Amino acid sequence: MAIEIVDLTEADIPGAIQVIQQAFADDPYFKWVFDAETIWESPAQFNKQRNHDSLAARCRWGINNAIFQVAKETAEKDSSESFPILGVSCWMAPHDASQPESWYAWYQGWVLSFGQFLNNVRYLGHGGLRTNRYWIWKERQQEAQSQIWDDPRGYYFCNIVAVSPEAQGRGIGKLLFETITKRADEEGVKCYLESSKNVPNVQIYERIGFEMKSEMECRDGDDACMLYCMVRNPKAE
Ligand SMILES: CC(C)(COP(=O)(O)OP(=O)(O)OC[C@H]1O[C@@H](n2cnc3c(N)ncnc32)[C@H](O)[C@@H]1OP(=O)(O)O)[C@@H](O)C(=O)NCCC(=O)NCCS
Repeated sequence: MAIEIVDLTEADIPGAIQVIQQAFADDPYFKWVFDAETIWESPAQFNKQRNHDSLAARCRWGINNAIFQVAKETAEKDSSESFPILGVSCWMAPHDASQPESWYAWYQGWVLSFGQFLNNVRYLGHGGLRTNRYWIWKERQQEAQSQIWDDPRGYYFCNIVAVSPEAQGRGIGKLLFETITKRADEEGVKCYLESSKNVPNVQIYERIGFEMKSEMECRDGDDACMLYCMVRNPKAE
C-alpha cells in the first residue's frame, strides 16, 4: 500500500478530526486537560461535538498558517477514488524571535480566537476544557522553551501528530515527520516537540532523530501530567 503525504484541504477536515479524536482518546495530556471521564451532561463536561468544532476551526486556520498535512493511500492515476485519512500532522514553521509577528499572522490568530469564542457561546462553555490546566501547561511550556530553545532562527514546532489507531506502527508517522525533517535538514533548522506519552512515543521519536531535553511536569493540585520535551538537530546532507 503506497501512502502519500499531502497538504490538508477543506474536504479532508472531517477525516483529519476523526483521526485526531481517535488517536488522542487515551492520551494522558488530553485526559488531564479535559474533563473527558464524564458523559456530556452540562457545558462544563467534555463534549465531543464541541471538540470537533474547535478542531475544525484549528484545521481551517492551519491550512493558511501552519504546515498541516494528511497521510492517505495513493489513488491510481486518473482515478476519482478517495481514501480515508490515516494520519495527520500540524507543524509551525520556525519564527525568528527578534522579528515581530506579521499583521497577517496576527489577524489570522485573531480570526481563530474569535471562532473559538463563538464556539464557547454556541456550546455555553469550553466543552470540558479545564482552562486553568490549559494555562498551567502554557506557563510550563514557556519555561521549558526558554531553557531549551537556543537557536534565534526558531524551531519547527510540532503542534499535532496523530495516526489512526488501526494504522499505527506501519511507518505512517515516520512519513509524516519526514516531510518536515527533510525541510529542516535542508534549511539547517532544529525541530521541537512535546510528547505527552513516554512509552512508546519517546522511543518512536528517538528513531526519527529526536533527543530528550527535559521532562515538563504540569501540576494541578494532586493531579499531574508529564510531557517530554525533545529536539532534533538538523542532519548534514
Ligand atoms: C506516535 C505516532 C504518531 C507514531 O506514528 P506510527 O505511524 O505509529 O509510527 P511509525 O510506524 O512510523 O514508526 C516510527 C518508528 O518508531 C518505531 N516504532 C513504532 N511503534 C513503536 C513502538 N510501539 N515501540 C517502539 N518503537 C516503535 C518504528 O519501528 C519506526 O522506527 P524504524 O523506522 O526505525 O523502524 C502514532 O503512534 C500515534 O498517533 N499515536 C497516538 C497519538 C499520539 O500519541 N500522538 C503524539 C502525541 S505527542
